[in-house]
Amino acid sequence: MSTADIGVVGLAVMGSNLARNFARHGFTVAVYNRTYAKTTDLIDAHGDEGDFVPSEELKDFVASLKRPRKAMIMVQAGPATDAVIDQLAALMEEGDMIIDGGNAHFENTRRREAALREQGLHFVGTGVSGGEEGALLGPAIMPGGSEESYESLGPILEAISAKAPDGTPCCTRLGPDGAGHFVKMVHNGIEYSDMQLIGEAYDLLRRGVGIEPADLARIFSEWNSGDLDSYLIEVTAEVLGHTDAATGKPLVDVIVDQAGQKGTGRWTVQNALDLGVPVTGIAEATFARALSSGVKQREGAVDLLTGPTEKAAIPDGFVEDVRQALYASKIVAYAQGFDQIAAASAEYDWGIDLGSCSALWRAGCIIRARFLDRITEAWRSDPDLPTLLAAPEFTKIVTDAQDAWRRVVATAALAGIPTPGFSSALAYYDGLRSRRLPAALIQGQRDFFGAHTYRRVDREGTFHTDWSGDR
Ligand code: NAP
Ligand code: ATR
Repeated sequence: MSTADIGVVGLAVMGSNLARNFARHGFTVAVYNRTYAKTTDLIDAHGDEGDFVPSEELKDFVASLKRPRKAMIMVQAGPATDAVIDQLAALMEEGDMIIDGGNAHFENTRRREAALREQGLHFVGTGVSGGEEGALLGPAIMPGGSEESYESLGPILEAISAKAPDGTPCCTRLGPDGAGHFVKMVHNGIEYSDMQLIGEAYDLLRRGVGIEPADLARIFSEWNSGDLDSYLIEVTAEVLGHTDAATGKPLVDVIVDQAGQKGTGRWTVQNALDLGVPVTGIAEATFARALSSGVKQREGAVDLLTGPTEKAAIPDGFVEDVRQALYASKIVAYAQGFDQIAAASAEYDWGIDLGSCSALWRAGCIIRARFLDRITEAWRSDPDLPTLLAAPEFTKIVTDAQDAWRRVVATAALAGIPTPGFSSALAYYDGLRSRRLPAALIQGQRDFFGAHTYRRVDREGTFHTDWSGDR
């Protein structure tokens, strides 16, 4: 009998937790996993949490879904997702929907959506953020796909999503085809940037000022009760306060200093290059991870390259300076991420509402932060802002922070502590506020060696100089 409101295919950590979340919210949830033992494990451990309909065969899983059928895939991104889509599509009927909650690249989502639309099926690519715990207790959900599919799917996803402090579900349809996965990708890019900036703040206060991890844990905890209040700052305080049981040392000191990455930061930067959007914070964060794991270069240089010959003076009030630089740089990272979303929305005709996007990041996801309330208000009061930094509140915050920010970047350079995130964010700020940029010289150079022409400040048209005559 077809009784299930929704089904989940792929019962690893994310899929099983999402299935439990659906069941706990009163939905009848069909569950299927390629390896049946995982399905029975889920039912044995959590079958009493709600109404599950387990199937050993995919055809029985599909048959157990109410129409229009809704099957959510939570399997590995890439070929596994394609394989499962093909199997499901062969069993589904017109009007049914396949929802991909994995971390798919948005171009794959666009391709899959177009192919399934031909077959009369809806394909909803959706970002799901919040990790394992979020999937169970309430993730931020970023769906793409057709308006029609959202009519019946939306209420189910909204029910299980995280709720913002004002009670709003952290789930909104963002636009057609790849819009949801695109927003999830940029979310992850911003996450990279945020983590890099926090890492730099830690490094400056540890190596520059000499504050020990346990004291830094307290500082980050304090920061977490003000403007910087966010999940990532909270996590940072936890990590820094943790002692390694085996050695008695701060845990952070026994962790190898090479950051891993699965690729979403890289995807964000690659796409930003295609769109021509300067997401310098995300790019620097991605490259900083690459530098950290560039073992050959680091080992080859560490004993050869020297640092500053004079010990840098640390300005009074440096901890507060770093807090302000962190806040300002973080705002720049978000401003750049929103620029990328706006550019992609125009390019792919998605119609993404930036206010809805920031609103749904307010809870459940890794980059959840108190200041997303302010960002949401900024986009809602003026959706046509040229940059988030032009919203009066954010203009004031970065302007007020700029002296501290400059002291931090200058001190970091003098102390020989790398701060690619802080420095590039400040350079971006200074780039935006400069009335004249050296790009005029670059245009002159381009015209000189390639006759690429230039425009003039005082006349319309394009111009080329006969440089041979000038020499
Ligand atoms: P995962 O390790 O990415 O995927 C394992 C699941 O994929 C298992 O159910 C596995 O089935 C299934 N699978 C793999 N190849 C398959 C194939 N060819 N045919 C059918 N099923 C196949 O699990 P996860 O960590 O729960 O993540 C699921 C998805 O959510 C991924 O796309 C991931 O990127 C995304 N995501 C993860 C997180 C996170 O924090 N982990 C957060 C957000 C999104 P078997 O049991 O039979 O091997
Ligand atoms: P969230 O939005 O909750 O952060 P996520 O994007 O899946 O969810 O990221 C959670 C963790 O899973 C991250 O450590 C991420 O690695 P990166 O920092 O390198 O992006 C990791 N992750 C993401 N996609 C993955 C995949 N396909 N396989 C394994 N791990 C993945």
